[in-house]
Amino acid sequence: MCGIVGYVGNMQAQSILLDGLEKLEYRGYDSAGVAIFDGRRINIVKEKGRLSELENKLAGIGGLSGTCGIGHTRWATHGEPSDYNSHPHFSRRVTLVHNGIIENYLDLKKILIDKGFVFTSQTDSETVAHLIDLYYESDPLAAISKALKEVRGSYALGILFEDQPETIYAVRKDSPLIIGVSDEENFIASDIPAVLKYTRQYILPENGEIAVVKKDQIRMYREDLTPFTPEILTANWDLEAAQKGGFDHFMLKEIFEQPEALMKTVSPRIKDGIPSLIEDGIDEERLKAAGKIHIIACGTAMHAGLIGKQAMEHLARVPVDVQIASEFRYNDPILEKNDAAVIISQSGETADTLAALRLCKERGIYTIAIVNVMGSSIAREADGVIYTWAGPEIAVASTKAYTVQMGVLYLLTLILAKARGTLTDDEIREYVKTLLQIPDQMRLLLSKRDTVKEYALHFSEAESLFFLGRGIDYALANEGSLKLKEISYIHCEAYAAGELKHGTISLITEGTPVIALATQAALSEKMVSNIKEVKSRGADVLTFALEGVNIPSEVTDYLFEIPKTKALLTPLLAVIPLQLFAYYTAVERGCDVDKPRNLAKSVTVE
Ligand code: AGP
Repeated sequence: MCGIVGYVGNMQAQSILLDGLEKLEYRGYDSAGVAIFDGRRINIVKEKGRLSELENKLAGIGGLSGTCGIGHTRWATHGEPSDYNSHPHFSRRVTLVHNGIIENYLDLKKILIDKGFVFTSQTDSETVAHLIDLYYESDPLAAISKALKEVRGSYALGILFEDQPETIYAVRKDSPLIIGVSDEENFIASDIPAVLKYTRQYILPENGEIAVVKKDQIRMYREDLTPFTPEILTANWDLEAAQKGGFDHFMLKEIFEQPEALMKTVSPRIKDGIPSLIEDGIDEERLKAAGKIHIIACGTAMHAGLIGKQAMEHLARVPVDVQIASEFRYNDPILEKNDAAVIISQSGETADTLAALRLCKERGIYTIAIVNVMGSSIAREADGVIYTWAGPEIAVASTKAYTVQMGVLYLLTLILAKARGTLTDDEIREYVKTLLQIPDQMRLLLSKRDTVKEYALHFSEAESLFFLGRGIDYALANEGSLKLKEISYIHCEAYAAGELKHGTISLITEGTPVIALATQAALSEKMVSNIKEVKSRGADVLTFALEGVNIPSEVTDYLFEIPKTKALLTPLLAVIPLQLFAYYTAVERGCDVDKPRNLAKSVTVE
């Protein structure tokens, strides 16, 4: 997820572009750049690091003059943060900024190199600049249209043509783009915050529609290049609300970003219906040869590992050991030379997790990192890295990172299952098809947030609370419990439902709140028995059950149904209401949802 901006008007563009990029840093901030017409040519200045680095570089050269330009703040997905991977990218007469993921960029890159184009970056975005340049003769619209017909993936593009002064071209597919409308000046941006200071009027292009933006004119074209008159909308948000996309908190915005984040992370890694991580540089042979897999992480990342264990052991029949990184590194772990380690970290900087990775490398086992921040320490030091393309996760409580980590773990599982012959190609394709249906089912669950909110309000005064589950539901219960604890400050614990009667059930008294997870049809009868055990002792029970599983009304006080999917994929869905439950409980209790007390987004100390 990156931020793009563009300005054309009577003012000097540089300061307006930088101001817009600063408002979009929540979309990514590992590098930034601008390209500005000076009346004769397009000048580009870009820099690794925060926006301040770019500002310093511009100051050092006396700034760029010109009244038309584009800018970009990056969240790296292809190509580590660096000066040369920063945007804008160019190809002779074409300069552009891009937000999105070009899924077939490697194929396109090979073709373009064969045609003599010289690449100066590792990014997927540069491919689009060369492709448009390939088709550009004198008609920018035709060149853009022809090039994008060959592109597969998502994009929001701001494009300048050297011989089309004072004009910005913009087009999107599945990545956000707005056209800011004013009298003597016009804008493009990934999101409204970048232009709110200058105008509240904007156009929302649909996928494939191309905007031709001049200072006193905006022309819109449909995908077939027929012109049309767009609707002009008015933004009624203040800046802070706009940066949260209209949501009250970044956490809620990120909960709602999960369908897109999961699709962007999984879809590009599916080739002919079968998962492949070869383009990620993963040595699938070494992974397949692993006699045991050690999943090592902290907090929510570790909880994703618990789900991965269930999937890998059930589907690929490979032994998996999940370890808390801070324990692993001091346990003198037993690691065999052909073992493999999967190191999970959203930030890629968690000290305990980084130390665990280094221990694995000292022992010579193959290490794969699942990381959301490109170029982070864990990403750099692991033998192989699989990036989760979730975009920046701003809220301290991890939500979308958890679901995309699970998404990658399912891909690893299916690759292992194929290698070990425990699933046929048809069975794998069926799993992939079901996995790609999950984002829409997530959206269905998100549409029921008000129902979950009612349950959260009912339990919001609890002093302690239990999360019960069996099998993969017990693994998920750990994440549900952590979410609630860390943002609402209610003490709660996840407990294996079948284990409760071995002591802890003594804590269940009249009114004890219990969240029961019953998403596994094969375990539903046992789970119903466990719910009855706590209900008969006075518990106040909210059950999250798989659609169609019979939970008698006298057994649970409240019931929320989870759409059907493959049993082992259910956590991708069931976690949504658990995240919402924690969120609305914390809001009701007046907690600082995005910045809970005592916590940091990345724990870079032991
Ligand atoms: C999760 O909501 C917490 N913020 C915390 O447990 C976090 O998952 C943990 O610190 C690991 O962080 P990482 O994924 O960046 O390594």
